[in-house]
Amino acid sequence: MNQTAHASWVAAGFGVATKLLTERLCLRPMEMSDAPALHHFFSDPIAMQHWSKPHATFADTENWVRMTVESPANETREFTILRDGDIIGKAGIWKAPQLGYFLRRDCWGNGYMSETLAALIPHLSETMGLSVMTAEVDPQNEPSIKLLKQFGFRETRRGKKDYFDGVKWVDTAYYERQS
Ligand SMILES: CC(C)(COP(=O)(O)OP(=O)(O)OC[C@H]1O[C@@H](n2cnc3c(N)ncnc32)[C@H](O)[C@@H]1OP(=O)(O)O)[C@@H](O)C(=O)NCCC(=O)NCCS
Repeated sequence: MNQTAHASWVAAGFGVATKLLTERLCLRPMEMSDAPALHHFFSDPIAMQHWSKPHATFADTENWVRMTVESPANETREFTILRDGDIIGKAGIWKAPQLGYFLRRDCWGNGYMSETLAALIPHLSETMGLSVMTAEVDPQNEPSIKLLKQFGFRETRRGKKDYFDGVKWVDTAYYERQS
């Protein structure tokens, strides 16, 4: 899967990609008009349990998307994930070199994020010139930690109650991957 996904954007000639195609998914740069679809995730308390307080209003999501799309491309580059034209999540670099991702809850457990990261990690490393990527994870977020390990991330340290998730202080596992 990794090599196939990587090959598809190279072969398609997307240097600084407008769009990456994988076996089942299309990844394209995030747009302001994605906010309503992304709000389904951001307002879901179960999906957000390992991240932060769910967005209470659509305006919260709109502000997040605006801040993201208006950030300099060498710092923040987020891709929206589509399956059959339907927005199912996002993945990308937030304040380089930090990797972040999420999927709509009804799409979990189908290998979609593995497929996304197999295409996106090499693309972002190359186009953003990142020799190191990092990720900050709730140590209890088992699917996310499995994904990171699958892509060669290793835990570098553990913070004790060092992240305020909007409700309480929680631990953070810090991960890093060298290209
Ligand atoms: C983390 C997340 C993106 C995983 O996406 P996904 O498409 O379901 O993941 P995949 O299907 O590609 O599976 C990745 C690995 O996690 C495992 N996994 C998936 N769901 C799992 C679950 N509920 N419990 C335990 N393991 C799980 C898979 O088996 C796979 O491991 P394997 O290769 O050893 O079999 C998704 O759960 C999500 O959006 N969570 C909420 C947002 C979030 O926590 N983002 C990360 C913040 S750091």
